[in-house]
Amino acid sequence: MPPQDAGDEILSVVGLSKTYVTFRKSPGVIGTLRAFFRREEVLVPAVRELTMSIRRGEIVGLLGPNGAGKTTTLKMLTGLVRPSAGIAIAFGKFDTSRRSAEYLTRLGMVMGQRNQLNPDLPAADSFKLAQAIYGIPESRCQRRLDTCLALFGVTDLALTPVRKLSLGERMKMELQRWRKTTGVCRRKVGQTGRGSRVGMAGNK
Ligand SMILES: Nc1ncnc2c1ncn2[C@@H]1O[C@H](COP(=O)(O)OP(=O)(O)O)[C@@H](O)[C@H]1O
Ligand SMILES: [Mg+2]
Repeated sequence: MPPQDAGDEILSVVGLSKTYVTFRKSPGVIGTLRAFFRREEVLVPAVRELTMSIRRGEIVGLLGPNGAGKTTTLKMLTGLVRPSAGIAIAFGKFDTSRRSAEYLTRLGMVMGQRNQLNPDLPAADSFKLAQAIYGIPESRCQRRLDTCLALFGVTDLALTPVRKLSLGERMKMELQRWRKTTGVCRRKVGQTGRGSRVGMAGNK
């Protein structure tokens, strides 16, 4: 690989940690009454001091058993969950926990159980809505979409109600939505200058 300088770093994570505070309750009426007067607080250390660096053009997989903290990590990197400690800086300037609008328009996240596409409408309609929300010009949008759909071999399915698609086909359409809004389909992920994008996928 060619030597990379510090400017190639698109994600810098240092000591990122998350401890959730949750509560435990015994089942049944007695448990409910007891919890009503005194809740048993439980601390769940979901992510402990994660430090990593991702460079332009790298494709990274986050692997681990159930409960290892993968989803929590993605949520912290997209600003959905505030870290208990540590920091993640994207594109050299965005603290991911601050959820700046500029940062959010530069990332895409697809979660297996959280659908962005309206199941009653063809994906093409949801793409139109995303186009309006992200303010993407019509011609650029259509070009991106044609390329993305062809890349995934799902051009014919964009006009079918999403509810009628198989799980795999639906996930391909979900991916198209963020590819279309962020424009990743036209390039190799992360290999653009000012227009770099980050895409993330999770299952929860
Ligand atoms: N909102 C929450 N409140 C309390 N505990 C949570 C919450 N979300 C996740 N956890 C706990 O944090 C740990 C990590 O969860 P998660 O990040 O979903 O793991 P993974 O995606 O690797 O399976 C698990 O023990 C899970 O039970
Ligand atoms: Mg998960």
